[in-house]
Amino acid sequence: MTEAATRMQTGHSVDEIRAFWNGQAERYGADLKATMYDPLAKELEVAALQQHLDRKVPALEVGCGNGVNLLQMTEWFEAPLTGVDYSDRMIAVANGLAKERSPRVPLKFAVASVLEDLRHLGMFPQIFTVRCLINLPSRDDQARALANLAAILPPGGEIVMIEHFEEGQERINELRQSVGLPAISYKWHNLYMRESDVLARLPEQLEHVETDRFASLYYLISRVFNAYVTPADKDPDYLAEINKLSCRLPAVGDFAPLKLMRFRKRK
Ligand SMILES: C[S@@+](CC[C@H](N)C(=O)[O-])C[C@H]1O[C@@H](n2cnc3c(N)ncnc32)[C@H](O)[C@@H]1O
Repeated sequence: MTEAATRMQTGHSVDEIRAFWNGQAERYGADLKATMYDPLAKELEVAALQQHLDRKVPALEVGCGNGVNLLQMTEWFEAPLTGVDYSDRMIAVANGLAKERSPRVPLKFAVASVLEDLRHLGMFPQIFTVRCLINLPSRDDQARALANLAAILPPGGEIVMIEHFEEGQERINELRQSVGLPAISYKWHNLYMRESDVLARLPEQLEHVETDRFASLYYLISRVFNAYVTPADKDPDYLAEINKLSCRLPAVGDFAPLKLMRFRKRK
């Protein structure tokens, strides 16, 4: 896809997309499938959070869904955790799980949208997202969301953003098509971010610290190699041995749409 063909909006409203997520919560409840179909990619996401977040510093997840990340994080975090999501059904599931599991660190969930002023939540020295901002209808909304997060970050605080990016999707699709596999299409409610766009529109107060392509090898192996050896009448198995192996090796290259970008608020 050329820069000119880059999508600037999904053509769907915030309310339509929120209704989709409420439906996912009603259908799948606490199951991982409510927010993610690929269990190995989820393991890689949690490992990346473990690597990039400081366990001693309070953290906020925006777009926390049914709480899958935060509930796992209570096992290794040493500071309070907070999750917000604009889907009240997701938050109801997350609250139910938090009550059931009596986490070892304080854990709070609330309903809030990243497109609104979040200052009523207080300030958070660490804020993270996992595939949340790709559900916003336009690039302007994605930029506004980052500005809203920057507003509740103290100087020196960090944003860790695990999202899907178009550049990686284009690379993996080029490889797939070069061996006769169809391109993977975008879901109707997703607007994958563009690294170049994020950097160009980054709020003044934020500086880019790093980009971690933690899922690169996993995508190359699962979406090209494993897809290629899977018979055409079958769906590739997310848990194929070759996929598991790729998670144990260094994430070389830049082949995945799924990546992490880290930003710091200037002092
Ligand atoms: C793909 S799910 C990911 C959930 C969770 N972060 C995870 O890793 O499992 C995306 C989540 O973002 C939430 N979301 C989308 N747009 C949002 C917005 N404007 N404000 C807050 N949450 C939003 C959805 O309700 C959904 O729960």
